[in-house]
Amino acid sequence: MKPDGFSNDDEFILTVAGAGTIIDVLCNSLDDSWILMEGVMGNCRTTYMGLDLKTPIIAGSCGLTGSLKEIVALEKHGASAVVLKSLFEEEILTEAGSLAKSAYDTSYAAEAGAYIDYYVKQNQIGDYLDLIKKAKDSVSIPVIASINCLNTGEWVKFAEKIDKAGVDALELNIFFLPSDTKMKAEDIEKRYFRIVRDVKQLTSKPVSLKLSPYFTSLARTFKELSDEVNGLVLFNRFFNPDIDINKKQIISAGVWSSPADIVMPLRWIGILSDKVSCDLALSSGVLDGAAVIKGLLAGARVVYVASALYQSGITMLGRMGEFLAKWMDDNNYEAIDEFRGLLNQKNVPDQDAYERGQFMKFYSSHKE
Ligand SMILES: Cc1cc2nc3c(=O)[nH]c(=O)nc-3n(C[C@H](O)[C@H](O)[C@H](O)COP(=O)(O)O)c2cc1C
Repeated sequence: MKPDGFSNDDEFILTVAGAGTIIDVLCNSLDDSWILMEGVMGNCRTTYMGLDLKTPIIAGSCGLTGSLKEIVALEKHGASAVVLKSLFEEEILTEAGSLAKSAYDTSYAAEAGAYIDYYVKQNQIGDYLDLIKKAKDSVSIPVIASINCLNTGEWVKFAEKIDKAGVDALELNIFFLPSDTKMKAEDIEKRYFRIVRDVKQLTSKPVSLKLSPYFTSLARTFKELSDEVNGLVLFNRFFNPDIDINKKQIISAGVWSSPADIVMPLRWIGILSDKVSCDLALSSGVLDGAAVIKGLLAGARVVYVASALYQSGITMLGRMGEFLAKWMDDNNYEAIDEFRGLLNQKNVPDQDAYERGQFMKFYSSHKE
């Protein structure tokens, strides 16, 4: 559906794009912006973990997705789903009065402490369930809850409460840095399977796993995990340390992604998308519409956006959708299925393209 006065979709896109973004214009002038959006972006529909989405662009877990007001705004500006701000395993255990110190190895605790201090503004469990219920009442897009965890245990029971609060899916953001010099890869991997299996027993909702790239045998582990969950999110971004050489102190590396951060998830989604049995979400470095398309071509079902929401404002979601719709139109695609995974490892002529790790070829062919 187009507003009166526009003879075709192209004209509508170009005219509105010249005046600002489609979303900006529609949101400023109309109450039900998505009804109009669907006229322009109807072809961008997709599914993720069985959830119907208007576009493949999801607002990833971040501070903005922890507030009802922002969640409503994110929907209005084009988010096809929201992943709520993570509730932390530690918070659940603290509130339950049973923080089992033994569950935390010391090296992890320091890292987790920094992350928690940095990101968490003391969500109480009740508040979290309340947020889920209110979000479900206020928006029509899927709402995905997120738990930041590192081990299985008592907190897992909380998955049942999240399920009952009406959430559409549950994401497990497993924050685990394999920094213990004595821990074997096999033991680390087992943790992931234990967490997933315990949580799956308590919820009938789709479950996704947000993972780091720190795996010895990434392809095998992710393939096996994909048999257990509905979605894998590549990758989680850690709170990274940097060094101030003048103060001789550890400082925080920047919080925001840069466009270059997409290359690692892009590589792994390209390699894995025809091999795993669940849906893949690309997270890290999706800062513009071109990055959305790259993720889909590599084989992702959806992309998550977080840094761009802060750096460019939440209207960026609409601009990304608009860019995707225009690119599909220019390339004569009527549905995302027509090009998703077109450039995954199986489909590209040079299958080494995703696995090449050395710069030898670059130097031998680079003339400057
Ligand atoms: C301010 C901020 C807060 C975040 N909080 C969470 C969180 O609570 N849980 C989580 O799983 N990821 C969290 N993330 C990570 C994002 O969801 C995302 O995976 C990561 O930032 C990479 O995406 P981006 O490149 O679009 O930022 C946070 C990111 C930012 C920037």
